[in-house]
Amino acid sequence: MLFFAAALICVDCHKEIVERFERTPMANSSGVVKAAGESSGTIRRFSLAVTAEQNAVRLRWPGGEVELTFFIGSRRMGRSYAYSSGGHLFQAPVGYYGNRKVWDLPPGYERDKRPDFSRPITGECLSCHATRTKAVAGTVNQFTEIVHGVQCARCHGDAESHEGLVNPRKLPSRLRDSVCEQCHLAGKVRLARAGRRMEEFRPGRDLGEFVEVITGGAAEGVRVNGHAESLAMSLCKQRSGGRLWCGTCHNPHAREKADYNAACRACHEQPHREGNCVGCHMPKGRATDGGHTVYTDHRISGASAAPAAMRSYFGRDVSPRDLGLAYVRMGVAERNPEYLEKAWPLLRQAAGKGKKDPELYEAIGGLLESGGRREQAEGYYRLSLKQDGLQPGVMRKLAALVGGAEGEQLRRKVDAIIGNPINSR
Ligand code: HEC
Ligand code: HEC
Ligand code: HEC
Ligand code: HEC
Ligand code: HEC
Ligand code: HEC
Ligand code: HEC
Repeated sequence: MLFFAAALICVDCHKEIVERFERTPMANSSGVVKAAGESSGTIRRFSLAVTAEQNAVRLRWPGGEVELTFFIGSRRMGRSYAYSSGGHLFQAPVGYYGNRKVWDLPPGYERDKRPDFSRPITGECLSCHATRTKAVAGTVNQFTEIVHGVQCARCHGDAESHEGLVNPRKLPSRLRDSVCEQCHLAGKVRLARAGRRMEEFRPGRDLGEFVEVITGGAAEGVRVNGHAESLAMSLCKQRSGGRLWCGTCHNPHAREKADYNAACRACHEQPHREGNCVGCHMPKGRATDGGHTVYTDHRISGASAAPAAMRSYFGRDVSPRDLGLAYVRMGVAERNPEYLEKAWPLLRQAAGKGKKDPELYEAIGGLLESGGRREQAEGYYRLSLKQDGLQPGVMRKLAALVGGAEGEQLRRKVDAIIGNPINSR
């Protein structure tokens, strides 16, 4: 029997764990929308209206309507929604905010000039919010299978037999921490290392083999999904010889409130034994990266929030390729040309004849294009696409450069890969 660790198989012998786990936010972090559990509401901007009807939840706007069929987020903090067009999933421009109990634009949509229905829901969102996905060949957002929510397999692995399963607590600290970092470590920039794919990670391996995660670079407050990197900044983590980890304070199977203070007292007798330790030493704050939501500061007590040098979360020297790609991402996200200038020599150094690295060549193409060197840029986009043909973003850039019949052909290929979203105009 294939021990794909789904609750279905485990429930026979671990009934209590399965039943408790099924009620946690993680287990409910994605799924098919059920109208019964949803609320109705309106968003004044763009005149959007969401109605939970008998069997469906619909989003209406002055130009049309669509059914919201799939959700991401348990609603503990919030929930994002997707609709399906020709079998392809796209994010809808509405989100539910659990703490305020209101509908509003989802994070990242606040500055749009009109409702944006065009963003595909790819395996990337689902790599953290679902257990596994399978996309139809040649598409990025049409799925034949989505195992909803975070299930046992993501922390315990899947194996041919029970002996092959992993108990995270019994792993060496770096491998143990990797289990939660799969999803709880976003960093300033997180990228797949050359020739590696995140999906190949399994519990029991070191996440650092698969991804590079860059932290620092600017002053950091409390961030959405910043828990692992924040904890790593505290002396408790740094000086406790690998003993402190997420599992010290959180029971991943249960939502019940843990006795956090007891966790502190296990290591600290001084200077005080009384009071709500986390209330003073792990205060709550509004996330600096949006979402209108409040998160808990995991830099236990006052680790400095001053700007720090960009560095690898894994404590190693960052390769020129990874650092260069990180600068490109930051330069684009923050519209800061200084970062792009820093990226250039690093990426040049990383490029080499015969190397397979589509992301690197796309980035080089992008820098050349922004420097006005269109012909050279075209060459690098072509090289990138030759190495990986499933890159709609690169196809669009190349189409814009070459125009004409080839441009048109490329745009049709993009449509085949991501499908046709609704146009709200
Ligand atoms: C046929 C019964 C049975 C099934 C099915 C089963 N388990 Fe277990 N499992 C056990 C028993 C019994 C133990 C306790 C063994 C022990 O004390 O070490 C255990 C222990 C464990 C442990 C702790 C191992 C350790 O080394 O600490 C984990 C993790 C675990 N199971 C996960 C799972 C998952 C995930 C599934 C579903 C894929 C599953 N089990 C299915 C019987 C089962
Ligand atoms: C496959 C991705 C994934 C892995 C692996 C993962 N998490 Fe999560 N976790 C999430 C997501 C997604 C959420 C948000 C769930 C929601 O509200 O929709 C979350 C929420 C949480 C929460 C807040 C909700 C609550 O239960 O109070 C805690 C605490 C947490 N995770 C702890 C852990 C720990 C500890 C580990 C490692 C043992 C871990 N997670 C591993 C994806 C993951
Ligand atoms: C988010 C990560 C995560 C998920 C998902 C998860 N577990 Fe665990 N599990 C852990 C961790 C961490 C431990 C070790 C807890 C400890 O001892 O501190 C553990 C321990 C166990 C154990 C050993 C006995 C025990 O109570 O400590 C069993 C059995 C188990 N898990 C079964 C399951 C089953 C079945 C599922 C799916 C319904 C599941 N787990 C889902 C992280 C997870
Ligand atoms: C690297 C893993 C990761 C990726 C990729 C990711 N998320 Fe999350 N997401 C999380 C974690 C972990 C949480 C839990 C809160 C936290 O740690 O900040 C979360 C929380 C959320 C929540 C709030 C859920 C709640 O009620 O707590 C929503 C909604 C959400 N994510 C939507 C998305 C969407 C949409 C995408 C894709 C565009 C996405 N996420 C991509 C890890 C991820
Ligand atoms: C696994 C053990 C462990 C746990 C659990 C732990 N700490 Fe610590 N903590 C340490 C160590 C080790 C240090 C560093 C002490 C030193 O070197 O002087 C430290 C340092 C601190 C400091 C001083 C920080 C600074 O920057 O000067 C504070 C405050 C603190 N811990 C509070 C807490 C609180 C509150 C909790 C519970 C939320 C907690 N700790 C949980 C091990 C732990
Ligand atoms: C020293 C104790 C401690 C450790 C270690 C710890 N947490 Fe937390 N965590 C907390 C407390 C306290 C809260 C707030 C709980 C509440 O408000 O109910 C929290 C809340 C969270 C939440 C909910 C969102 C938020 O920010 O309020 C997530 C997700 C989370 N922790 C993930 C993690 C992950 C992942 C790790 C490991 C990298 C981790 N935590 C390690 C104490 C801890
Ligand atoms: C009312 C707020 C408050 C509460 C509650 C609180 N602390 Fe503190 N704690 C402080 C302050 C203020 C300091 C001094 C900070 C400094 O020296 O920078 C401190 C210092 C510390 C230190 C560092 C001592 C050192 O040598 O630098 C530790 C460890 C610590 N607290 C642990 C705890 C633990 C464990 C609890 C829960 C039993 C707790 N605190 C509850 C406010 C609080």
